[in-house]
Amino acid sequence: MRIHAIALVAATNLAVSAFAQQFGGAENLAPNIPTPQILVDSMLRVAEVKPSDVVFDLGSGDGRIVITAAQKFGARAVGIELIPALCASASRRVRDLGLEDRVKIEQGSFLRADLSSATVVTLYLLTSSNERLRPNLEKYLKPGVRVVSNDYPIRGWKESRLVMVKTGAAEHRIYLYKVGQTR
Ligand SMILES: C[S@@+](CC[C@H](N)C(=O)[O-])C[C@H]1O[C@@H](n2cnc3c(N)ncnc32)[C@H](O)[C@@H]1O
Repeated sequence: MRIHAIALVAATNLAVSAFAQQFGGAENLAPNIPTPQILVDSMLRVAEVKPSDVVFDLGSGDGRIVITAAQKFGARAVGIELIPALCASASRRVRDLGLEDRVKIEQGSFLRADLSSATVVTLYLLTSSNERLRPNLEKYLKPGVRVVSNDYPIRGWKESRLVMVKTGAAEHRIYLYKVGQTR
């Protein structure tokens, strides 16, 4: 009986710790839900991405935003992603598409990343994650940098534009912020 109880506690601890490494862990601030491709295109258009831009996607998942920024908009792009397996598959895709000279995938937390080379930042997180991230945006981003957030606002910042995009039955909000004009 005692052995069963210990096994149960051990199994529960393992499950909890595996979950903690996923969404809900101290640093993992959003589940991996990819942005629909039509919205990826809209976000990059709202940010007016051009070939001279350096686009940072914070929490880059499968890499679709950074890949699109390079392929369709000719920009350079950096994806920062916490989960090693997602970094590995995104990096493979970047390699397969021959985009290694323009797209970099970095494994780590966007809460501690140096964002100073970004001219555009894309986000698909949660309002609470944006709140945790905001001090890092304010520390590194230079005036004029455009920040686009899919569906979730950055509390405490005033947006420059709010664009509604319909995908089937769903309606999405794309918030555009310009650093230096957020108050
Ligand atoms: C909703 S998904 C968005 C993925 C991608 N940006 C897109 O729009 O398709 C959020 C991503 O953020 C990642 N993430 C969560 N917290 C993070 C952190 N602190 N640093 C880096 N990535 C993080 C998750 O692993 C997940 O892949």
